[in-house]
Amino acid sequence: MAEWEKVAEIGDVPENDMREVEAHGERLVLANVGGTYYAFGAWCPHVGTSLALGYLREHTVTCFAHLWRFDVRDGRILYPPMEGVARGYNLPVYPVRVEGRDILVGPRQP
Ligand code: FES
Repeated sequence: MAEWEKVAEIGDVPENDMREVEAHGERLVLANVGGTYYAFGAWCPHVGTSLALGYLREHTVTCFAHLWRFDVRDGRILYPPMEGVARGYNLPVYPVRVEGRDILVGPRQP
């Protein structure tokens, strides 16, 4: 498995929008927040809806199904207040870097 995988090119994901991509054998969401890219697991830990169908506002993604919210920078759940109850409700996050016009996603962060 490559350390970094190309998932998109500059211009594929408009600013303040997101789309589903695939990297490291997983479905991820690539979000563009004001020109900075973030990658996180696509499936909402509540019931498994794709977070790419949700809403992105600044660094918060909101699942459209039941409105759970997460910080795209570190995957931390923001609502409901599950932190401290179970770590499994945080999203997996992946580093992103841009090389030329290519957007690359690295291995999952621990
Ligand atoms: S499936 Fe995402 S909040 Fe319920």
